[in-house]
Amino acid sequence: MLDFELSSDFINKQINDIGQWWWWYVREISWQLIVTPIAYLLVCIFLYFILKRVNHKAWQLPGPPSRTLLITAHPDDEVMFFGPMIYWLTKNKMTNIYLLCFTTGGNKERKEELWSSAKIMGIPEGNVTIIMNSELPDDPKVQWPGEVVAQHILQYIEIYKINAVVTFDKYGVSGHKNHISLFYAIASLCIEKKVPSYCKLYALESVNIVRKYVQLLDLPISLLTSSYWYLVTYEQRQIIRAAMSAHKSQYVWFRKLYMLFSRYTFINTLQEVNALDVELDLQIADD
Ligand SMILES: *[C@@H]1O[C@H](CO)[C@@H](O)[C@H](O)[C@H]1NC(C)=O
Repeated sequence: MLDFELSSDFINKQINDIGQWWWWYVREISWQLIVTPIAYLLVCIFLYFILKRVNHKAWQLPGPPSRTLLITAHPDDEVMFFGPMIYWLTKNKMTNIYLLCFTTGGNKERKEELWSSAKIMGIPEGNVTIIMNSELPDDPKVQWPGEVVAQHILQYIEIYKINAVVTFDKYGVSGHKNHISLFYAIASLCIEKKVPSYCKLYALESVNIVRKYVQLLDLPISLLTSSYWYLVTYEQRQIIRAAMSAHKSQYVWFRKLYMLFSRYTFINTLQEVNALDVELDLQIADD
């Protein structure tokens, strides 16, 4: 009898303890769930206002390159993915910028749209080249023949004495095979040592899907993890959105949403492409 009473007391106390512990635990977690996002948000806002005021040239492409070639696959890639970089390159009077676009999507209208979009961004029509080649179709499932793409790029570098080439990285931002082909073309030029010594290669970093759609909330991560970056403010971004609206045939609801939320309309981060990294990548891809 006595024994039984003792143990029931003991159990009650244990249950009580567990209850209290749970309560403490839930309080602690919910506190962290509230505080952490607020702290993160404050860091983003703080960084944004600081960077708006300081000159961030030190984190842009070194040189600055006097002749930059941007290589894209489709008309509208330049605004959807490279807007902030173009914004700053065209502001810099020391830099000449050239745009090489590899397909029109088989549509004459899109050519016109690219010209007017580029003009809004500050790239004159004469600095925009659109390649028309049936071997290079606009198709997310088609990897373009590397040899053909590389040949076009090399020719351009040599004619215009380009000293910085910028294009997609091996994930192509959206995983589009045409974008990825452009990376592998410059990667092969790099490995085969065909790029003239005055020219450096850079790739636009792809980020995961969460980071891709959080606008400026990606700022701290981008700054911590990248060598080179370009950032525009909300006001400066108006130009990028105006340039996107010039792509009338493409400016449908989901691209409008994209332009609203995408980090690429605020931040571009770049990585230099070097032979060692590329060889590693290709080996991993082969295995
Ligand atoms: C366009 O190309 C011309 C000729 O190479 C150059 O002088 C000019 O600065 C370029 N424009 C821009 C905005 O870079």
